[in-house]
Amino acid sequence: MGEYLPKKILTNADLEKMVDTSDEWITTRTGIKERHMVEKGEAASDLASQASVQALADAKVKPEELDLIVVATITGDMPFPSVASILQYKLGATHAACFDISAACAGFVYALSVANQFLACGTYKKALVVGVEVLSSVTDWKDRNTCVLFGDGSGAAVLSEVKSGGIISTYLGCDGSKTGILNMPGGGSLNPATHETVDKRLHYVKMQGNELFKIAVNTMTKAAEVVLEQAKMTFADVDLIIPHQANARIIMAVAKKLGIPEEKVYLNIERCGNMSSASTATALCEAVKDGRVKRGDIILLDAFGGGLVWGASVIQW
Ligand code: ACO
Repeated sequence: MGEYLPKKILTNADLEKMVDTSDEWITTRTGIKERHMVEKGEAASDLASQASVQALADAKVKPEELDLIVVATITGDMPFPSVASILQYKLGATHAACFDISAACAGFVYALSVANQFLACGTYKKALVVGVEVLSSVTDWKDRNTCVLFGDGSGAAVLSEVKSGGIISTYLGCDGSKTGILNMPGGGSLNPATHETVDKRLHYVKMQGNELFKIAVNTMTKAAEVVLEQAKMTFADVDLIIPHQANARIIMAVAKKLGIPEEKVYLNIERCGNMSSASTATALCEAVKDGRVKRGDIILLDAFGGGLVWGASVIQW
């Protein structure tokens, strides 16, 4: 696994100078203290490239050995080509098939599952799966409801065949009836970029946070229950839960509903904010590097985001 967080850090104190907010409000309502931000000119593929180089070194795999690159992102360098294509060139992974996945905060779990299918059915031997976001590029820095939440970063994983364990079960889902409560309306084929879309601030994330909060708690709880049942396990079997890092209160509410003690929950939201598809990817990477995940441990990934989509996975490390 590999991780890359941009050098620049934006603290709650910095945000206090930009919008009508306070460190106290952000900390108590979200659990976030600071987040990483790209510099001008730094794009998703740059972050993904740094995380991927680390992951490849960690796995002792050469870029040219990769058969597949799947990148989960909603903030690619540009609408097309895919970040995966740009990343392929940056890494020199000349033999890899490449595409991106758009599943917002559940993107990394979706991408892991897709790559896992290619390996399980024998089509490919080695895959690189990346979660990367530059959410600062779609954040409305005048909207205190959203601008305090997001950060930039990338996490990457190399997948290859295992004799036992690995990805044991995955549960993916979507409720497309609620696309309106979390989206970025401008820049696509419905509202292509014009002066008007810019004036109306349509190129930024729009979110009904309060509504989402309740759905997130219920959906993440249900997803965790279903995926563990599929794996024929119970919560007592789980060594560490790595949830999507949207809000520490959401995460702790889910843990409480599931009866999972706090020490079994991995958090990096305080330092990173919500990095959408990069959140579960970086949290998993950090948990492994910190020694919180040991060989044989059972890990539960549990993510939820815009779509509305969800994805949960049980992995034996
Ligand atoms: N600073 C100070 N006050 C604020 C701020 C801020 N940054 N933001 C909102 N407020 C105010 C509101 O204006 C409101 O004031 P009012 O009562 O006078 O109208 C008050 O605080 C309460 O606002 P709520 O929206 O009810 O606050 P809540 O406790 O729900 O917290 C939050 C908001 C943090 C956004 C929360 O709802 C949340 O985390 N929602 C879920 C987000 C999520 O899961 N997103 C999905 C993944 S993201 C993705 O897919 C990209």
